[in-house]
Amino acid sequence: MANSFDVIVLGGGPAGYVCAIRAAQLGLASAVIEQEKLGGVCVNIGCIPTKALLYSAFLANALKESKDFGVEAGSVKTDYGVAMKRSRRVAEQNSKGVEFLMKKHKITVVKGTGTLQPGKKVKVGNDVYEAKKAVVIATGSRVKGIAQIGLEINKTTVISSDEALLMERIPEALAIIGAGAVGMEFADIFNAFGVKVTVIEALPRILPLEDAESSDAVGKSYRKRGIEVIAGAKVTKATVAKDKVTLDVEAGGEKKQVTAAAVLMAAGRAVNTENVGLKECGIQLTDRGFIKVDKNLQTTAPGYYAIGDVAGPPMLAHKGSREGVVVAEILAGQKPHPIKYDNVPSVTYCHPEVASIGMTEEQCKEKKLDYVAGKFPFSANGRARGTGETEGFVKILRDKKYGEILGAHIVGAHASEIIHELAVARENEYTVEEVELAIHAHPTMSEAVAEAALDSLGRVIHI
Ligand code: NAI
Repeated sequence: MANSFDVIVLGGGPAGYVCAIRAAQLGLASAVIEQEKLGGVCVNIGCIPTKALLYSAFLANALKESKDFGVEAGSVKTDYGVAMKRSRRVAEQNSKGVEFLMKKHKITVVKGTGTLQPGKKVKVGNDVYEAKKAVVIATGSRVKGIAQIGLEINKTTVISSDEALLMERIPEALAIIGAGAVGMEFADIFNAFGVKVTVIEALPRILPLEDAESSDAVGKSYRKRGIEVIAGAKVTKATVAKDKVTLDVEAGGEKKQVTAAAVLMAAGRAVNTENVGLKECGIQLTDRGFIKVDKNLQTTAPGYYAIGDVAGPPMLAHKGSREGVVVAEILAGQKPHPIKYDNVPSVTYCHPEVASIGMTEEQCKEKKLDYVAGKFPFSANGRARGTGETEGFVKILRDKKYGEILGAHIVGAHASEIIHELAVARENEYTVEEVELAIHAHPTMSEAVAEAALDSLGRVIHI
């Protein structure tokens, strides 16, 4: 039957399309249903275009300081419109890449909005598709406003990352609500393009899920670059006019007003669970609104699985992709390596970059663990001095008795790349001692990992 497959995946983002590829690799006839472009938020309006813009931001900042390096570029002019268009081309290329992968693996792509039906079926328009093995829900998430304080996204003065990524011209001043990954990355981008940026965070510190020392280091760097950062702040009132927004903010016992041409909402995302047909199929949600899944990522309805953002935090592309692989392998009768959710690395690609894995020092303290923190600053690292990227550090939290890597935190250039040494180590249960045993090439930023490991053992060499 033309509309019958082994596996039907609803949603073609990094969770869904990867699931389909792995299923196809294992000989399962697979289909992906996607209403927009393949690649989802990540490829089209998330991870990929923001990384292109962050690189433009990096170049702008690097050129402003290039005289010190013996390179004069004259007066540096920036044009967000040009950077934005380049970021669109990058996103487009990646989406085309996913299309190619679907063809390569003979995966059927159905364009349209799918609704689940009982009996492992999905309706798209007038067509009904049937899965022999399973339907995998990978419908992802979307940006959300905060209606309670009058900040509903209107796409002009109250915007989300969706609009920020498509802007031709930038506002003179921008207020950003939320200092999670989205807020911090856009603050970096817009500051580099000359926008007066104010970041407002409700919790006591920016990047509140990161180690406190990481938050502090990035906060200092941002303030130095002229980004106003207000943490522990409550927006008590928002006055949205035609061409500006005024926010009444309370922080540290003081009241102040922040006026900007636009407000960027970066206060978290809402999952796409509405109008999918979940209830009709007996698929339940958790108290927090995610799809309830068991350890195999199967929902409360047998034969329906959920992966990616809809299946719960962390809402990260790489977590979703791994869930996609695991579900495909389960459906093919394999026993995949279980996902250890505390081994999912977290990266914010602002400058300096922030990356982490495992527990923060605050969590180690809360749990009353017997640990030691080893730390090495990039200011003492030769490679970092060479490139002038001396901000930040590597910090490793080592269990005193067993040498376990309880957590690792990196702030600095290429933190997003360096963290994987510790991700491999933690996944394979290497001790801090074993990480240090590996010979680290000189001069590299990665030497700071070995030095932080040594510091936790009381044997640091270069400080
Ligand atoms: P988030 O949940 O990471 O951060 C939102 C921040 O907004 C939090 O710090 C929260 O305390 C704050 N907030 C909430 N309400 C507020 C209010 N009324 N006033 C002031 N602050 C308020 O959400 P974000 O940054 O929007 O990202 C959404 C998801 O996408 C996250 O799961 C994030 O990890 C993921 N993402 C990951 C990226 C990466 O890996 N580099 C990049 C962008 C997003």
